[in-house]
Amino acid sequence: MTTVSTAETLALVDEVLTRRAAEPGALLPILHELQDALGFIPADVVPRIAEALNLSRAEVHGVITYYHHFRSQPAAGRVLQICRAESCKAMGADDLIAHAEHKLGCAMHGHSIDGAYTLEPVYCLGLCASSPALMLGDELHGRMTPQRLDALLAQEAQP
Ligand code: FES
Repeated sequence: MTTVSTAETLALVDEVLTRRAAEPGALLPILHELQDALGFIPADVVPRIAEALNLSRAEVHGVITYYHHFRSQPAAGRVLQICRAESCKAMGADDLIAHAEHKLGCAMHGHSIDGAYTLEPVYCLGLCASSPALMLGDELHGRMTPQRLDALLAQEAQP
């Protein structure tokens, strides 16, 4: 699916580029700011970013695809991020992820069958003392188990 950015989106991208392009190591902060504002990095803004930073399109694309945090497509529904960094892995994150994939009917980076959720990995949510942790939308949840995840999703489904 190719996304065509609106004039409003392009104006926002240009404003961010004008303000930040001269910063040292500007690419990552720019990508973070654009994703925070737009929810993803539209493919058709990559050439603008590359030109503003004097990089190749392949370099910008490579950074976007290297970091799991960045999305090239809008997320479907709510974003469920499950931490798979060290502390959470040690406390059962792999089982939690397997359960979430089964429950939602999709693999990591996919969309649930009903389109209500996007499932994504994340690498530390700052909640290591309460591992395993996840973030659903903007809400952090620690000491998560498959049963607690089921309860959380069931609660979300309530009208
Ligand atoms: S390792 Fe999972 S929250 Fe820090």
